[in-house]
Amino acid sequence: MITQENFRRDADAVLDWIDGYFKRIRDLPVKAAVLPREIFNKIEDEAPLEGEDIDMILRDLDSVLLPGITHWQHPSFHAYFPANSSYESLMGEMVTAAIGAQCMVWETSPAAAELEERLTQWMARAIGLPDQFTGVIQDSASSATLVAILTARERATRFMSNLNGVPGGLRVYCSAQAHSSIEKGVGVAGIGRNNLVKIETDSGERMNYKMLEKAINEDMEAGLTPICVVAALGTTGSVAIDPIDKIAAICNKYNVWLHVDGAYAGTALLLPEYRYIAEGVEYADSFVFNPHKWMFVNFDCSLYYIKDPQLLVRTFDILPEYLKTATHGQVNDYRDWGIPLGRRFRALKLWFVLRGFGLEGIRQRIREQIALNEYFARKIEESGHFKLLKEPFLGFTLFRTISEDDTVTQKVLEEVNRSGEIYLSHTRVDGTFAIRFHATQTYVQKEDIDKAVQTLNRYYQIFETQS
Ligand SMILES: Cc1ncc(COP(=O)(O)O)c(C=O)c1O
Repeated sequence: MITQENFRRDADAVLDWIDGYFKRIRDLPVKAAVLPREIFNKIEDEAPLEGEDIDMILRDLDSVLLPGITHWQHPSFHAYFPANSSYESLMGEMVTAAIGAQCMVWETSPAAAELEERLTQWMARAIGLPDQFTGVIQDSASSATLVAILTARERATRFMSNLNGVPGGLRVYCSAQAHSSIEKGVGVAGIGRNNLVKIETDSGERMNYKMLEKAINEDMEAGLTPICVVAALGTTGSVAIDPIDKIAAICNKYNVWLHVDGAYAGTALLLPEYRYIAEGVEYADSFVFNPHKWMFVNFDCSLYYIKDPQLLVRTFDILPEYLKTATHGQVNDYRDWGIPLGRRFRALKLWFVLRGFGLEGIRQRIREQIALNEYFARKIEESGHFKLLKEPFLGFTLFRTISEDDTVTQKVLEEVNRSGEIYLSHTRVDGTFAIRFHATQTYVQKEDIDKAVQTLNRYYQIFETQS
C-alpha cells in the first residue's frame, strides 16, 4: 500500500519507470497493435478491495496496459497533429497533481489565477498579438471555439439566448476544410448544425472569402442573422491558412464575430518570420491555439484570447451564494471565462516549459523541426516512389505514392502503420487519398526522419514487388 511514509521510495519507483520509458521508447512499437477488447479483457473484473503495492501496479502497467498504448511521445510518431510533452512539462504536471488545486475562483488559489493572467500576457507578446487581447487557458481548442460561438451568440442576441433559449435563423460560417469542432460547437450552442455554412475553398484549401461575403449577403436577404465566422490558421487536413485579413474586413463590415482557430499553426507565430500567416488577426474578436500541440506542453493547455473579456464574463457569469467571494469583481475568477466550474492549474506546466526552455529555446526547437520536415519532403520526393501534394510547411508534409490509384497509397500507409516502426495518418485532398506527416515530436532527430524515409520506401518497394 502507498503511504506518506514510503512515498519517497514509491515515487522513485515511478520516476524510474518514467525515465526507463523515455530511454526505451524508440524500441517500442509506436502504434498499439491490439484488438478491440483485448486490453479490457485483461483488466480485473472488480476493483481491488485492499490497497496494493506500487510494484504490483507498475508490473501491470507494463504487462497489461503498455501493449495497448500508442506512443505519442515516440520520435517516430508522425501522425495527426502532435500532442507533445517534454521533461519540463511533465515536471510541472507532477507538481500540479501534488498541489491538486481546484482553481475555479481567485480565492481558491490566487497564485494559479495570477500566474494564468501573467502567462497569457507573456504568450500574447511572444506570438505578436496586440495588447487589446486578454487570454485565458481552456482545456482544448474545441472548448475555446465553443466558448467563442456562445459569446458571439449572446452578443448577437443581446444576452437573451442564455435566458430564453436560442432564436432560429442564427448563422455561423467556416470553410469546408475547417475542423469538426466548429460543427460540434454550433450544434452544442443550440444554433443547429444546419446553420453552419461551409464556404468552399480555393485550390490551396483556403476559404474563398468572396464566397463568404456572398453567403452572408444571401442569408441576410433571406432574413437570417450571421453571427460568427471561424477562420482557420492551419486546417487539420493540410495546414491551409485562410485569408484572415480579407475575412476580418468582411466580418467588420457586417458586424460578425471573427474567431481564428490556430490550434496547431498558432505556435509558429512565435517565429517572427512566420507572423505573416496571421495578418489581420488583430481585427479578430477571438483567437485560440494549443501549446498542447506543438509547444511541448502536455495535453491539456489551450490558449484562448478575446478582445472584450467582459462579453465572455457576461456570457458565463452565474453566481450562486456558495460561490460568492469578497474579491469578486476585483480579480479574475476564471470560472466565468469558460464552461466548467472546476479548473485545473494548467498554467503551472506552461510556466515550467516557458522557464525551462526559454522562448528562444522553444523557437530554436520549432525551427529545427521545420527544417527536419523540409529534409523529409526532399528525401521523399527524391525517392521516386512518392509525390508531394503541397510544399512542406510548418513541420508538415502532405504526399502520396506516385501511383494515381488511391488504393496503392492507402495500402502502403496501412502496412507502414502496421509495422509499428513509424506512425503516420491520412486525409483526402480534392478527393485524393493523401498521407500526412509531421516532423514535430518534441525529441525528434534527423535519425528518426531517416528512419521514416527508409520505412516508407521499404514498404513501397514490398508493395511494388508483390503486385
Ligand atoms: C484546426 C484544429 N482545430 C481544433 C482542433 C481541436 O483541438 P482540441 O483537441 O484541442 O479540441 C484540432 C485538432 O486537431 C485542429 O486541428
